[in-house]
Amino acid sequence: MYARHGAGILRQDRERCSRHRQAGDSHSGITPPSTTDITPVTTPAVTTKAEVTTEPAPAHKIEQKDGIWYVDGVLIANKSYPLPEDYNPGKLLPEAEEAFKKMQSDAARDGIKLTIVSGFRSYNRQKNLYNSYVNKDGKAEADRYSARPGYSEHQSGLAMDLNSVDDSFAYTKEAKWIAENCSKYGFIIRYPKGKEPITGYIYEPWHVRYLGTELAAKVTASGLTLEEYFGITSFYKD
Ligand code: DAL
Ligand code: ZN
Repeated sequence: MYARHGAGILRQDRERCSRHRQAGDSHSGITPPSTTDITPVTTPAVTTKAEVTTEPAPAHKIEQKDGIWYVDGVLIANKSYPLPEDYNPGKLLPEAEEAFKKMQSDAARDGIKLTIVSGFRSYNRQKNLYNSYVNKDGKAEADRYSARPGYSEHQSGLAMDLNSVDDSFAYTKEAKWIAENCSKYGFIIRYPKGKEPITGYIYEPWHVRYLGTELAAKVTASGLTLEEYFGITSFYKD
């Protein structure tokens, strides 16, 4: 039912992944001040106490409420920020579902058929899915395309897989339409191509995450992954 593509992963990708993993791990989440922002000053006649702080403020607020992680109030679920086992909305959150329906009907007007092939997934559903991939491809490979239970964005009720979870989907007109239009409806392509060292996952042109139209537009315009945009990591501690 949920076809996978683990066998299609290239050795080259795997090597690139391990090489870059350290860089992602060391991301501090703190934006250093730009040296170009510093204006040279002349020495004042009267010396006063310096008011300039040398500690840059964290760029984004990371907090945990009821076991759920938020960055600037936005729910985060990735390899560094898991969801509680008992977090179970049971279905897609209404705002994500509504946004999908609107996107679906506008896409249909462009001759594009969009369907949800996997929406909300409970902790236990993800556990079964992940274990089946580990049995098929081994843990190291499975970790590249399937989240461990508790770490999947699907458990949040804010993510969905559209149309097909086969790598060939990337070359379809539907995938192109999604990439070009999904932000207008509040979604982002959550695991873009070439960003595995940052997001923790290989390219998934079918997996969209609902962020609301304002943030989705900003993240998309930035060209950054959600991890980069928020200055957070995505890696398992073990
Ligand atoms: N395929 C994505 C990473 C998940 O399992 O949530
Ligand atoms: Zn997905």
